[in-house]
Amino acid sequence: MLAGKVITIGVTGGIAAYKAADLVSLLSKNGAEVHVVMTGSAREFIQPLTFETLSGRPVVTDLFNFSEPGRIPHIDLAARSQLLVVVPATANIIAKAACAIADDLLSTILLAATCPVLFCPAMNTNMYTNRGVQRNINLLKELGYLFVEPGFGRLACGALGQGRLADLDIIYEEIIKSLWYEKDLTGTKVMVTAGATREAIDPVRFITNRSSGKMGYALARAARDRGAEVILVSGISELKTPHGVKVLFVESARDMHAAVLSHFPEVDVVIKAAAVADYRPKITAEHKIKKSAGVLSLELERNPDILLELGQLKKKGQILVGFAAESRDLLRNAKEKIQKKNLDLLVANDITQPEAGFGVDTNIVKFVYPDKEAVELPKLDKLELAHRILDEIIKIR
Ligand code: CTP
Repeated sequence: MLAGKVITIGVTGGIAAYKAADLVSLLSKNGAEVHVVMTGSAREFIQPLTFETLSGRPVVTDLFNFSEPGRIPHIDLAARSQLLVVVPATANIIAKAACAIADDLLSTILLAATCPVLFCPAMNTNMYTNRGVQRNINLLKELGYLFVEPGFGRLACGALGQGRLADLDIIYEEIIKSLWYEKDLTGTKVMVTAGATREAIDPVRFITNRSSGKMGYALARAARDRGAEVILVSGISELKTPHGVKVLFVESARDMHAAVLSHFPEVDVVIKAAAVADYRPKITAEHKIKKSAGVLSLELERNPDILLELGQLKKKGQILVGFAAESRDLLRNAKEKIQKKNLDLLVANDITQPEAGFGVDTNIVKFVYPDKEAVELPKLDKLELAHRILDEIIKIR
C-alpha cells in the first residue's frame, strides 16, 4: 500500500510517545520508508533503539551531528519526505511551529518541509483546551497544517477529558488521506454500495453471504480522500463507519434497492461492491418457525437486480461500475454481465483464489471493459485497489 512513500515521524516528549512505536511498525509493514526524528524530551520516554528496530533506519536526534559529510540531515529529510507526522505532538512543538521557531532538529525540519504536515496532539485536557494552545492550533490550521483531534477519555494524569492521542487506525487513515492529496474527484458525487444483504426467514433467522464490506468501505474512503462527496449504502458489515461520508444502513436487497434508486438521479458515479442476495424467502414468518419432524422446505423468490435497473436508467455522463464474484469462466461471465447490465467497468474476481474476494484484506481482479481487452491486476490491498478503480473512473469520464 505505502511502497515508495517516504514518511518522517517526529516524536516529541509525551507519555503517548510509546504509541508512536506502533505507528512506525504499521507504516513500515505497509511498505513505507519511515524516518524517525526524536526530540530530547521524547528520549526521556522511549529509547531511539525501539524506533531504529521498527523502522530499520537510524533515528535522527541531533541538529549538529552530521554522520555523512556534505549532507545536511534536516534539509535532506525535509526535502525527501512526502509527509511529516508529529506524533504525539506536545503543546511545546505546536507552539514552536506556530511561531516558526527552529531550535532543535524536529522544529527545524518542520520549517524546512514543503510536504503536508500532520500533527497528532496528545496532552492533559486543561493544556489542550488552554486558549493559547488552541490559538496556536487554529493558526497552524489556517496555514494549511493538518491535525488529528485527540480523543476523549481517562488521561495518564488521571484527568477525564479530551487530550489522549487519537486511535492509531484514525491516524493511519489520515496519513493515507494526506498522501493521496490529489483531489481529482472534487465536485463528483459517488455512491458506493457495500456489505452483504440479509433476507429474513423469520424474526431470528436470515439468509446472507460472506461479504465483509471491506472493498466497498475502502472505495468510500478512497473516493472521500480524493475530494468526492460520498454516499455509502451499507448492508451488513462490522466495519467502522468512515467519517466524512454519508452512510445509509440497509438490511435486505429490497431496502438497498430503495436507497440506491432514490439517490441515483443525483450521483455521477455508482460503484456496486455490495453482495446482494439474488433470492429471498417468499414468506417471512411472523413468528419463529418451530421445528417438526421431516424436511423443511424454504421457497425463495427473486430479488430485484439493482445494477441491471441502474443500467437501464443510466443517463449520459453517469458512470456505473459493477463487481462480479466468479468461481469459474470468469472472463466469459464478466463480458456477458457488462453488456447485460450496461456497465462502464466491471471488476471481476475469481473467488477460488486465496487472498481474493470475501473477508480478506487483499483482492486479485481483472478490469473488464465494454469495448476493449480486459486487464489483469496484481494482488492488491483493498484500499489500493479502490484507488485503481477510481483512476479508471477518472479515465472513463
Ligand atoms: N447486484 C445487484 N443486485 C442484485 C444482485 C447483484 O445490484 N440483486 C450487483 C452486485 O452488487 C454486483 C453485480 O451485481 O456489482 C454482480 O453480482 P453477481 O452476483 O456477481 O452477479 P449476478 O449479476 O447476480 O449474476 P450471477 O448470479 O448469474 O452470477
